[in-house]
Amino acid sequence: MRSHSCGSLNESHIDQSVTLAGWAARRRDHGGVIFVDLRDRDGLAQVVFDPTNIEAFTTAESVRSEYVLRIQGKVRRRPAGTENPHMATGQVEVMAQSVEVLNRADALPFQLDEEGLSESVRLTYRYLDLRRDLMQRTLRLRHRMNMALRGFLEPRGFIEVETPMLTKSTPEGARDYLVPSRTHAGHFFALPQSPQLFKQLLMVAGFERYYQIVRCFRDEDLRADRQPEFTQLDIETSFLDEADVTSLMEELIRHLFKTVINVELPNPFPRLTYAEAMRRFASDKPDLRVPLELVDVGDLMKTVDFKVFAGPANSPNGRVAALRVPKGGELTRSQIDAYTAFVGQYGAKGLAYIKVNDVAKGRNGLQSPILKFLPDTAIAEIVQRTGAQNSDLIFFGADAAKVVNDALGALRLKLGEDLGLVEAGWKPLWVVDFPMFEYDAEAKRWAALHHPFTSPKAEDLERVDIDPANVKARAYDMVLNGSEIGGGSIRIHRMDVQEKVFSTLGIEPAEARAKFGFLLDALRYGAPPHGGIAFGLDRICALMAGVESIRDVIAFPKTQKASCLMTEAPSQVGELQLRELHIKLRKPLGEAPGGAQPV
Ligand code: AMO
Ligand code: AMP
Repeated sequence: MRSHSCGSLNESHIDQSVTLAGWAARRRDHGGVIFVDLRDRDGLAQVVFDPTNIEAFTTAESVRSEYVLRIQGKVRRRPAGTENPHMATGQVEVMAQSVEVLNRADALPFQLDEEGLSESVRLTYRYLDLRRDLMQRTLRLRHRMNMALRGFLEPRGFIEVETPMLTKSTPEGARDYLVPSRTHAGHFFALPQSPQLFKQLLMVAGFERYYQIVRCFRDEDLRADRQPEFTQLDIETSFLDEADVTSLMEELIRHLFKTVINVELPNPFPRLTYAEAMRRFASDKPDLRVPLELVDVGDLMKTVDFKVFAGPANSPNGRVAALRVPKGGELTRSQIDAYTAFVGQYGAKGLAYIKVNDVAKGRNGLQSPILKFLPDTAIAEIVQRTGAQNSDLIFFGADAAKVVNDALGALRLKLGEDLGLVEAGWKPLWVVDFPMFEYDAEAKRWAALHHPFTSPKAEDLERVDIDPANVKARAYDMVLNGSEIGGGSIRIHRMDVQEKVFSTLGIEPAEARAKFGFLLDALRYGAPPHGGIAFGLDRICALMAGVESIRDVIAFPKTQKASCLMTEAPSQVGELQLRELHIKLRKPLGEAPGGAQPV
């Protein structure tokens, strides 16, 4: 239908006859001459309609935004002074000889170049939103990412294998999306939270190097970086240890960034142990672009006459930590109050601070409601450990370690943003030496921090059942600019170890058999040592594209409430369909409160 793409025209085409097809991005009438910016996937071309060509001109007069046109004409240089340096094709224009309206378009619900569109409008008319430049760019970026990943993996012996979508629940820690079975009354498939067990079975099967760009489903509370269905680059290997896997995988990510956005990431990536990441950044996914660090001061607070500090300082699960804010002395009372309210969202009961006016003057150079509780030695040590300078401010968090870490970890990032301290560039790292288990106080049992198929460190094997708190896992997370972009581990390949881990997790042998019998069986038949990782491709793409939400890099995402505004899924289904699936609703259709709610 066309000889050239709109976006490809340049001075080399001058005097050529071309046929273009695309959408009318804009039509302008200029004193008897009509200009149409014709858009296709490659860009815009300016088309000129002269009134002397009556037929084409009359048709052009009827053209509205987003009409689909085919235009035949001749390329010419734009008259001097009318060139558009902002357009790739800005030196030339097409003098239309004929035009055909391939399709009309109703007035759009929004202008494609409108700023500040609400996300609900964008998602309702996603096919129009996707015409917009931002979405065109991010989806192409995403495509280039997939190509680069495959380009790296293919020559290194990885093969892509598809794994089932209708499967059995695997424990990645979220709720499952369930699919009722028609042929087995009362039975359900689960959509995979990840292909974890299948990729391990592919290692048992001898493939040695597997990958898959694969959809995963998790029914969890959604945030900007979480979707109910998201995409992983899932990888598993045999006969590689942690050092091998992590070095190969950071090579992959370096290749990805270099190929797709021409960014050189460091080689090697820095590594932090989980303990150090928590201690210095109060986060297991620290954003190293923010140059603020916590220091522990609990040891100085054990005997102070201030319960808020002494309590957590003397508790085994407590933490008292300080965060120095360079030039923070300029913060006003109301700003400090706002930060106190901010940390309150994370459960902090307050936010003590010391303003540093003049370090040379010791106690007298400081200003704080809590000074009166602190002995000189403690004050001197706080100043020393934080490295505080004149006109700095030191914030304090004191509480259960989890509360302090959540609160000060978030405060550290917020201060970084607010005070313009976030350094430009890319800061990847590995977080390693994760604890194998964490205690779930509510459920009163141990849970796997990564997943139950992660291998404990060899030196901790004996401790798995007797001292779970001190068992470390052979797990690693890749973090980039404060976002967890990938996580993986070396797996358990021996049945006895897997059974021991299940037992620590309180999974009885009968339950283990019912849920993972196939895995336990497979481990009996010569399972090789294996391990892998999964990368969150939506997150990596959002980082590369510089967008806040992963919804902007997914063609058809769900809302925060896990629904699709365009198709209106999830939706009700008819009684017949339910009956075939052996399902009876607790509240019959239509009678649910608030009308048509899916039950
Ligand atoms: P994990 O659960 O850490 O590991 O997931 C791997 C990566 O997937 C991304 N991710 C998400 N992205 C968007 N929305 C979500 N809801 C979401 N959940 C996770 C993150 C995360 O780092 N089977 C293991 C991997 C392994 O052990 O090899 C797994 O799924 O970027
Ligand atoms: P109070 O004696 O409760 O008024 O608290 C004195 C100072 O300690 C105030 O600045 C509070 O914000 C702060 N504070 C109270 N509880 C905590 C806490 N758990 N962690 C850090 N600071 C706190």
